[in-house]
Amino acid sequence: MRSPRERSRVRTASTDAIPTPRFDRELEPAPATATDLRAGSAPQTGPASGRTANAVPPRDSPSETATLGDLRGMFPAVLAAARTETIYLDSAATTQKPLPVIEAIDRYHSARTANSGRGTYPWATGLTEAIARVRERTARFIGAEHTDEVVFTGGATAALNAIAMSWAVAELRAGDEILYSPNDHAANVFPWHQVRGLLGRFGQEITLVPYRTTVTGEADTADILAKLTPRTRLLTVSHLHHVFGALNTLTQLRGRIDPSVRLCFDASQSGGHVPVDVTALGADFAVFAAHKMLGAPGLGILYCRRRVHAELLPFLPGGNSAVRIDTTGLVPGAMPELLEGGTPNIPAVLGLERALDVLQSIGMPKVAAHNRALTVRLVDGLRPVRRLRFLPGPAHAACGVGYGIVSFTLDGISAADLGFVLSEFGFMVRTGGHCVPASGNATAPSDPAQAESVRVSTHVYNTVDDIDRFVLRVRAIADELG
Ligand SMILES: Cc1ncc(COP(=O)(O)O)c(C=O)c1O
Repeated sequence: MRSPRERSRVRTASTDAIPTPRFDRELEPAPATATDLRAGSAPQTGPASGRTANAVPPRDSPSETATLGDLRGMFPAVLAAARTETIYLDSAATTQKPLPVIEAIDRYHSARTANSGRGTYPWATGLTEAIARVRERTARFIGAEHTDEVVFTGGATAALNAIAMSWAVAELRAGDEILYSPNDHAANVFPWHQVRGLLGRFGQEITLVPYRTTVTGEADTADILAKLTPRTRLLTVSHLHHVFGALNTLTQLRGRIDPSVRLCFDASQSGGHVPVDVTALGADFAVFAAHKMLGAPGLGILYCRRRVHAELLPFLPGGNSAVRIDTTGLVPGAMPELLEGGTPNIPAVLGLERALDVLQSIGMPKVAAHNRALTVRLVDGLRPVRRLRFLPGPAHAACGVGYGIVSFTLDGISAADLGFVLSEFGFMVRTGGHCVPASGNATAPSDPAQAESVRVSTHVYNTVDDIDRFVLRVRAIADELG
């Protein structure tokens, strides 16, 4: 075995040889001219004429400008890691950033720093227009029908809390029920407990009803069906589970849920990994984290279907938040500003546009196919390893599915220690409980799904070679354990 120090001296001819594609140039938007900005119309801004207000034009069809083979050159940190034989396998925590995203963020700070939504000079108005453009682009990317259904938040956690504070607090009354999974990410568990606590203080006792997950890591739709009652107001689910790597579309429940039940999808792990269409999902709410879809941290996307707009309270009343005061108090204004407020994360929004460029230039079906192939290879490679146990997920599925996330344990070594050893050999993976609330599963406290584990997660910059090296290393560690 080579020591980490030795490894850091090794250069891989294969990765050094990868040319850096000129994506940054090709994807750069035509800069708005001074005339555009003075006239208040930047290129690509706003809905095309003839459409209803805020209607989103048809989704972009994926072009074939990128092949997965030449993608590493677009991710400087991945290239740098490869030079020291270090492999990033933690994209479910956050994805690496491609050059166009890095450059857009840098350009904002180094060339045109201003606030949006306020000033009347070109730098400011240009940013206001850019944010409108990115909103429309994002709406198209996630399959929203209207741009005012897309809210920019501080992250996916902030987006789920916005639903809790702006919708649930306003809408729920004593006796109402929320169906949720205690095995979900804390961001899709704690906000509902917070709502229950807050409403309880005002004598409105609501009930949180947990549903089970299956051995393949999916939301148990039979259990959900059995637990739906006339008092169910919200059903919340992770679209792609962050530990199990299982996809939940709730297709089996189509037509079997009362239309008055609001559906919430936590798409933090699916956004930028598989094609997501919130309209096809029948979502009332959906949340995304820009930093998990090649964008920057500190930006979330909250989808709120129009039918719930009238049920929403302002989320962050303040500057730019579409509220006003009259003699009766605070008067809510229009979406999406109703759930925004204050200065947005402008550089992250600009970066998101470039992230969507990159994803769409590859094509989301291709991104998903790549992650599927890597997942299947990883599961097949790890399956014969003695002492290795897969958590619920694609490894337990009948056919070769996979979405870029696999979690497992190795008997005889804790997940934390295994993660430490793997990191010594250059593999960056996540270990622990992965933000599943430890005491969350009141119905099954010894649930293996809540075991501490090693999670491997991939994206477009990972290769078959990454997976094969990882599998070999895990096999060697298992062999050493005896
Ligand atoms: C499924 C899921 N939901 C929500 C979140 C929270 O995302 P953020 O930390 O960006 O708010 C995460 C982050 O790991 C996640 O995996």
